[in-house]
Amino acid sequence: MMKILIFLCLANLLGLLEGCQLPHDWRPQTEACRAELVETVVFAKVLALHKDSYSVYNYLPWQYNSDLFFSAEIELLCDQAWGSMLEVPTGSRLNVTGLGYFPCHSYTVMENNSYYFFLRMDENYNLLPHGVNFQDPIFPDSPENHRMFASLFQFSNCSFGIDPQVYTPDWDVQEDHRLLCSTVQRALLEEEERVKNLSQKVRMLEKANGHLREKVKNLKRSLRQATIENKEALQAKCLNKENGGKDSKTSNHKKVLARAPKKPTGNRLD
Ligand SMILES: *[C@@H]1O[C@H](CO)[C@@H](O)[C@H](O)[C@H]1NC(C)=O
Ligand SMILES: *[C@@H]1O[C@H](CO)[C@@H](O)[C@H](O)[C@H]1NC(C)=O
Ligand SMILES: *[C@@H]1O[C@H](CO)[C@@H](O)[C@H](O)[C@H]1NC(C)=O
Ligand SMILES: *[C@@H]1O[C@H](CO)[C@@H](O)[C@H](O)[C@H]1NC(C)=O
Repeated sequence: MMKILIFLCLANLLGLLEGCQLPHDWRPQTEACRAELVETVVFAKVLALHKDSYSVYNYLPWQYNSDLFFSAEIELLCDQAWGSMLEVPTGSRLNVTGLGYFPCHSYTVMENNSYYFFLRMDENYNLLPHGVNFQDPIFPDSPENHRMFASLFQFSNCSFGIDPQVYTPDWDVQEDHRLLCSTVQRALLEEEERVKNLSQKVRMLEKANGHLREKVKNLKRSLRQATIENKEALQAKCLNKENGGKDSKTSNHKKVLARAPKKPTGNRLD
């Protein structure tokens, strides 16, 4: 029982459980829409798999050196991938990292098989699967997927099996569809970014608010301290007067008497 609790706490801490939760207004997008938004699409054959003992995309830090994470060495089967990020000819070899079994998803491929990959590049120039809209970024080599992605490679020189020109009649339809869904999706992404910006602002304001509250608390404390010190000083003064001012008692008394009538008039004027 304790073990399970500890695991749950750990899992929670690492976002393992919460990480699987999709935004509450999430809806699945068509592959055509996602292909429009992804950084790059390539059609490639997997030549070899390499184990990654460590990956920045590894969310299970206590499982270093496991078999869960790997990269794939791929060879492009068409030149010029979709999008501007990669401009490489057929036959180029690349390593795609960030594959494996993750808490919320699995990105897996098999040696000698071909796939369509949605890819992106991270800030260290690693190529990674790009799960646009939190959906699967790797598509097996099937007739439906050929049909779906053929138009993306329509001007490519493909070396292996597929002949994109066969699907010419679909181009116009797909083109229209892409234009339509990309505007919708872009609006969605902008909305997401706006929300992200807003929540960041809220967090900043909350922080500032916390600082202010702390400042006010400190001010109050020093005010209280000052009041106490004032009182103490007054008391000390009074004590001093009572003790040390005996010889000048008459003159003090006179002063008090002289001031006394002034006060009520001052108050009445208020
Ligand atoms: C891919 O990674 C493996 C292992 O790190 C390395 O041996 C291979 O040369 C890399 N291939 C390319 C094309 O970078
Ligand atoms: C992939 O193909 C190569 C050469 O054709 C072969 O040696 C290797 O065993 C194959 N790998 C798998 C996992 O089938
Ligand atoms: C297509 O690629 C092959 C090699 O993969 C090359 O021999 C051929 O000339 C290319 N064709 C064009 C039109 O670029
Ligand atoms: C969000 O903030 C970034 C910079 O902080 C800014 O470039 C971007 O335009 C903002 N997006 C929206 C939708 O306000």
